[in-house]
Amino acid sequence: MAEDKLVLLEINDFIAKLSINRPKALNALSGEVNRQLDACLDELAKRDDVRCVVLYSEKNFAAGADIKVMLECDVARAREYSASPIMQKLENLKTPVIAAMEGYALGGGLELALACDIRIAAENAKMGFPETTLGVIPGAGGTIRAPRLIGEALAKELIFTGKVIDSQKALAIGLVNQVVPDGQVLETAMKMAGKIARNAPLAIEKAKGTIREGQEAESFEKGYAREVEAFASLFATEDQKEGMRAFVEKRKPVYKKR
Ligand code: CAA
Repeated sequence: MAEDKLVLLEINDFIAKLSINRPKALNALSGEVNRQLDACLDELAKRDDVRCVVLYSEKNFAAGADIKVMLECDVARAREYSASPIMQKLENLKTPVIAAMEGYALGGGLELALACDIRIAAENAKMGFPETTLGVIPGAGGTIRAPRLIGEALAKELIFTGKVIDSQKALAIGLVNQVVPDGQVLETAMKMAGKIARNAPLAIEKAKGTIREGQEAESFEKGYAREVEAFASLFATEDQKEGMRAFVEKRKPVYKKR
């Protein structure tokens, strides 16, 4: 039954909605939540009928890794917990992922959002890295992804102080793309996902891959060489012909992911 599931996955019209369903613990990431998320991400990586993923959990995005579980961890278990492949699997999905955040996105919850491509926050969203207030540090990519996104000094401020910031502050520092009124975050993310899903899916995948490679490239030249290659490779697709022919014929393109 759906109530027994800690992670829910729905796929309609090329858009997947992935949600954590552990409301009593504010969607904190327990071992079982992580296992179910991991399985859903494996499923999403295999699917050919998904063009955008929306990560949304009702009321609270995720209040972090489960503190009650971590209290019992020794060094070896903590290493396993931190090395959880979820954030990497999320980041490595070929399709774009939009985090639709309401309520708390703290610690591992914020790290989950950072592994997404785009973040939309409700006015009531609260974000931060409380790890150092608990005697640890972000352990799921936060010390790397946060400085890349908002810059080293602001990431250090958040991580060293453990302070929780609101959506407007998050928008001002580039932690989120957009802030919307409470109750509208899922609808806004779904609309954006619809817009993405209508574009040429192979081009979107190439764009996502090329942007990532460019961020990680040792030099502009190396990144640019990959961009040129990716650009040229799309001219071998039916969708490129369809997109440009549709423009010339003044009609909407129909993309087939071929
Ligand atoms: N782990 C386990 N349980 C959690 C949790 C977490 N991260 N966050 C909330 N909960 C549980 C609470 O224990 C409580 O359960 P009980 O009723 O059984 O005690 C329930 O959710 C509701 O929480 P509160 O009563 O605390 O709700 P509140 O509205 O008063 O406060 C809050 C909300 C400010 C988010 C507070 O719950 C809180 O500070 N949570 C912890 C947030 C945090 O520190 N997250 C980072 C964890 S470390 C991490 O994530 C490491 C990493 O990088 C991988």
